[in-house]
Amino acid sequence: TDPIDWRTLPKAELHLHLEGTLEPELAFALAERNGVTLPFADVDELRERFAFEDLQSFLDVYYACMVVLRTRDDFADLALAYLERAHVDGVRHVEAFFDPQVHAANGVPVDVVLDGLRAGFDEAERRWGITGGLILCFVRDLPVDSAAAVLEEVAPRAGELLGVGLDSAEVGYPPSLFQEVFARAAELGLRRVAHAGEEGPADYVWQALRLLGAERIDHGIRSVDDPELVRHLARERIPLTVCPLSNVRLRAVEDLRAHPLPALVEAGVVVTISSDDPAYFGGYVADNLAALAAAGIPDATLVDLAGHSIDASFASEARKAELH
Ligand code: HPA
Ligand code: ZN
Repeated sequence: TDPIDWRTLPKAELHLHLEGTLEPELAFALAERNGVTLPFADVDELRERFAFEDLQSFLDVYYACMVVLRTRDDFADLALAYLERAHVDGVRHVEAFFDPQVHAANGVPVDVVLDGLRAGFDEAERRWGITGGLILCFVRDLPVDSAAAVLEEVAPRAGELLGVGLDSAEVGYPPSLFQEVFARAAELGLRRVAHAGEEGPADYVWQALRLLGAERIDHGIRSVDDPELVRHLARERIPLTVCPLSNVRLRAVEDLRAHPLPALVEAGVVVTISSDDPAYFGGYVADNLAALAAAGIPDATLVDLAGHSIDASFASEARKAELH
């Protein structure tokens, strides 16, 4: 049989940081447009910094590049450039993260960020029929007060968001710190997801479920260390948005053949595949599927996981039926 073209398989992208789609070429173009200086001489020097050792060594470069994003148009251009690549990759629905606390620290108000990103998403829906929306992520290694403040600032525009998430440096910043902020988000009618169990322990996954009311867990791969948690995820059909190329680049796993994905799938957990920060981790979502296929995951399993990505999305049932 012919090899599967992973780009033609219908799928949703559920774990994607828009700032992590900033390709070095666009970063330098925006730096020039805005008169901002990046702490890297050129595109090649920036790419040389992509040999990451762990999550923090990536976050240092990721946050350094975010200073080039200043205007509404920058955010619109960033989103539209990503959504065009997603369209080419066969992605029909995108639920994407952004980090407004970091932009606020760079002097960019959350309204500017939201205006630009929404404009990019609206244009992509008109051009390519891509649906989805935005998930505001709280940055767990910034003060909880600043997370609460950004949430109140966007509260009047909660209808323009799908939900809230939790990202950035994990170990030492347990979900429990954000219990009140997530309760407030729920009050505003927002869906809730959280990064947990990427570098942090399985206990952080339990906390995200029990204390934050997370409906999906981003990464969640350390769940394999706790058999009771794995049974709970499977029984309750709580999806994990797994990002294989990210896990290898950030050394959360040694290589794809050592990845816990097959064990999770075998245990009946609803696993989806996403690209996390594709500009930094060497591939978009079809590349992640192709890499798993090359590492020995059966094609039929990967086709199932692509289907899960649609079912695990926050799209309406009617839209899910169209997406399949
Ligand atoms: N983990 C945590 N925070 C992040 C990531 C990630 O993979 N990407 C961007 N922020
Ligand atoms: Zn992530």
